[in-house]
Amino acid sequence: MKVLVIGNGAREHALCRSLSLDPDVTALHCAPGNAGIAEVAQLHQVDALDGAAVSALAVELGADLVVVGPEAPLVAGVADAVREAGIPVFGPSGEAAQLEGSKAFAKEVMAAADVPTARSYVCTTAEEVAEALDAFGAPYVVKDDGLAAGKGVVVTADIEAAKAHAAGCERVVIEEFLDGPEVSLFAITDGDTVLPLQPAQDFKRALDGDEGPNTGGMGAYSPLPWADPKLVDEVMQTVLQPTVDEMRRRGTPFSGLLYAGLAITSRGVRVIEFNARFGDPETQVVLARLKTPLAGILMAAATSNLGYLEPLRWSEDAAVTVVIASHNYPATPRTGDPITGLDEVAAQDAPHAYVLHAGTRRDGDAVVSAGGRVLSVTATGKDLSQARERAYRAVGRVRLDGSQHRTDIAAKVAGGTGEAGAVEA
Ligand code: AMP
Ligand code: GLY
Repeated sequence: MKVLVIGNGAREHALCRSLSLDPDVTALHCAPGNAGIAEVAQLHQVDALDGAAVSALAVELGADLVVVGPEAPLVAGVADAVREAGIPVFGPSGEAAQLEGSKAFAKEVMAAADVPTARSYVCTTAEEVAEALDAFGAPYVVKDDGLAAGKGVVVTADIEAAKAHAAGCERVVIEEFLDGPEVSLFAITDGDTVLPLQPAQDFKRALDGDEGPNTGGMGAYSPLPWADPKLVDEVMQTVLQPTVDEMRRRGTPFSGLLYAGLAITSRGVRVIEFNARFGDPETQVVLARLKTPLAGILMAAATSNLGYLEPLRWSEDAAVTVVIASHNYPATPRTGDPITGLDEVAAQDAPHAYVLHAGTRRDGDAVVSAGGRVLSVTATGKDLSQARERAYRAVGRVRLDGSQHRTDIAAKVAGGTGEAGAVEA
């Protein structure tokens, strides 16, 4: 099977790494990719948002399957263009990707499907905003309606900050604050059959102790030893299957990866958000534990054959990933700094720990930073404590001037207290 992956982040590196280990994959291509992906796939220059260019590349390469990684091309309809060219594609249509592209649309689908989520108001004027903030009280949750790369949400006890964020958005969703730890649960679907993956937890805030601004995600781990073993079944029945059924009923079936961002509140599980693609950095830890070869799963979803797939097999290992971000991420990340120490990780920590690239590019012989999140250092171990030690040992070998990373990814849970990080106000 010849596979073309679209995207250039650590999620795409994780996907490419798994696909490169799959004996069914005879050729692996990625566009546009990054310096790390270049080690496992052949890179091509393409504008990932240009459906015609992506489908032309897929045709030229004779791709049997195209996997669209990030949300922006999905919302732009890139999967539709590839599908129209007659090539199976893993990823939802532009219309179905609105589950992520518009928070207001997601709320509408959840209401129709009776999926538990935070109560909310959609506001377009300062008066509506003030009323909604007043109705819910602090802490305030203010979300930009459109795509914002994980940075469009402000959760604050400061009403002026809440109003200021709302004023900067065209349309906002204001909603009730959800307490309790967060879980990311991914499901693969062909629009009909839904296959849940293993849950993971992401660390969204920039700084240790869940301080600082929201980011695209600073680290993740899986499994979640503190979670109720029935959680996945419950979310399947109350969230994932009803949402997929509702999308089909509307005539906009959702196929690809449905990502449920959940809060485990004192009153039960609630959806915080949906994403229409694999999460980053959770994918790095979920795929590190998946034993079933990946290409067959993605192909089954792309061709409406998920119902025929054998149950997925998972490793007993735990996995931890730690994101190394550039100087000044998330505000104004600095790029172009050289990265060293990657060879040392490959020589001394493989196969248990490895570096997945996000914002990197090659500059002559050097690898340099090219984005906010630069690397995602991933490790497996017999438990979270061992996976964590291995991940941080590898992080310690990587040098990038001015870089930052959290030192407490999976710390509480690996410390054996069984506690999970609560949602911060
Ligand atoms: P989102 O982009 O919707 O995932 O929001 C980003 C982050 O903001 C989430 O991961 C939560 O940490 C926080 N957040 C979003 N909605 C809520 C809510 N209703 N209550 C508490 N925290 C929230
Ligand atoms: N980890 C959060 C996201 O992928 O949106």
